[in-house]
Amino acid sequence: MTYFTGLQCFLCGTAFPAKALFVCDQCLGPLEPAYDYEAVRADMSRTAVASRPKNLWRYRELLPIAGEPRTGLHSGFTPLVRADRLAREIGLQELYLKDDSVNHPSLSYKDRVVSVAATRAVELGFQKFGCASTGNLANSVSAHAARLGLDCYVFIPKTLEPGKIIGTSITNAHVVAIDGTYDDVNRLCTQVADRFEIGFANINLRAYYAEGAKTHAFEIAEQLGWTFPKHVVVPVAGGTLLPRVGKGFRELRDIGFVSDSMPKIHAAQAAGSAPVIRALHAGLEYPEPVKPDTIAKSIAIGNPADGFQVLQVVRETGGWGAMVSDSQILAAMKLLAETEGIFTEPAGGTTLAVTLALVEEGKIPRDESVVVSITGNGYKTTDAISGQLKPVVQLGRSLKEFETFLADR
Ligand SMILES: Cc1ncc(COP(=O)(O)O)c(C=O)c1O
Ligand SMILES: [Zn+2]
Repeated sequence: MTYFTGLQCFLCGTAFPAKALFVCDQCLGPLEPAYDYEAVRADMSRTAVASRPKNLWRYRELLPIAGEPRTGLHSGFTPLVRADRLAREIGLQELYLKDDSVNHPSLSYKDRVVSVAATRAVELGFQKFGCASTGNLANSVSAHAARLGLDCYVFIPKTLEPGKIIGTSITNAHVVAIDGTYDDVNRLCTQVADRFEIGFANINLRAYYAEGAKTHAFEIAEQLGWTFPKHVVVPVAGGTLLPRVGKGFRELRDIGFVSDSMPKIHAAQAAGSAPVIRALHAGLEYPEPVKPDTIAKSIAIGNPADGFQVLQVVRETGGWGAMVSDSQILAAMKLLAETEGIFTEPAGGTTLAVTLALVEEGKIPRDESVVVSITGNGYKTTDAISGQLKPVVQLGRSLKEFETFLADR
């Protein structure tokens, strides 16, 4: 039984068949999957969900595939970590980290969206699978393509961190590095997808891909015993994750799984690439493109595809947002590791630094529950932080030297 009924335009509601389509030919709005929510309400229960394997497919009634999942059987259901030491440091009473830095198999939130896009790519008959990426998506697309035996084409800006590139090349994917920004890469890929029958996770399969991000919200609610936190802080690049976190929470209310009021959803960006935060603060409906320049390369997108939707969801839920400098990002990466032992990449540092800023501004009251989305892993981007850390202690082999070192501390 599938509850997914086809695609529809997010703006004008026109219905489209469930093919590799992503833009409405009537109004140019983005397409999104439609579901038979009445049937979902009748058939899907919290008990049934609880009995299923701990992966993102446990919410499959609300995911846009026609048959059985083809990949992602170990993706999702990442830890929701209660972070009391960090909470004390920030002055919060109830703080959680949704830790997608340990998502399987490629260590970022992207394994959610790619599990769905790759399954759909196979269902639609694609033999080639690809993406335009700032790094993490490339890692995930190439990993899932390898498992499925798909020929893989990954396009990236040439300035990405070596760890991200190697993590893709190891799968024998075709890695194409473009002399330009992510926005240049994305523009090229839109032309490539049309011509060469490649299923691009975040272009012609984008409607399916984006839905996978709802599972981040489903899991937060389930891991909190089918309740919502008061606040969620989410990083924004192309703008896939944040609006789908909102959509996921809304669906859980609609199908009767959770009765709490919607969490306030806050947006996090690096100051060197903050088109959405600038638009939010200026009261604009659409972000104006910027040229990114930040160490948070995975979220350095100057012209976000779903920027409009991010602004809409932040405003609808009563959330807010902030942007932080590269030095604030590095400090937050260290703070997270020092208090909770979690090594995130600059995107996670951005989200935590923005959380601190929002607490300082009073947008997040100290006595209200907060979930911070940690979406990527620091072991991929060691070059960003290596110059900032305490030097390694260099000693000879004698006990005396260690004694002297301890005495001098
Ligand atoms: C680590 C990490 N976090 C967050 C994001 C945000 O992505 P988006 O806003 O496109 O969903 C990305 C996107 O590349 C990412 O790599
Ligand atoms: Zn339309």
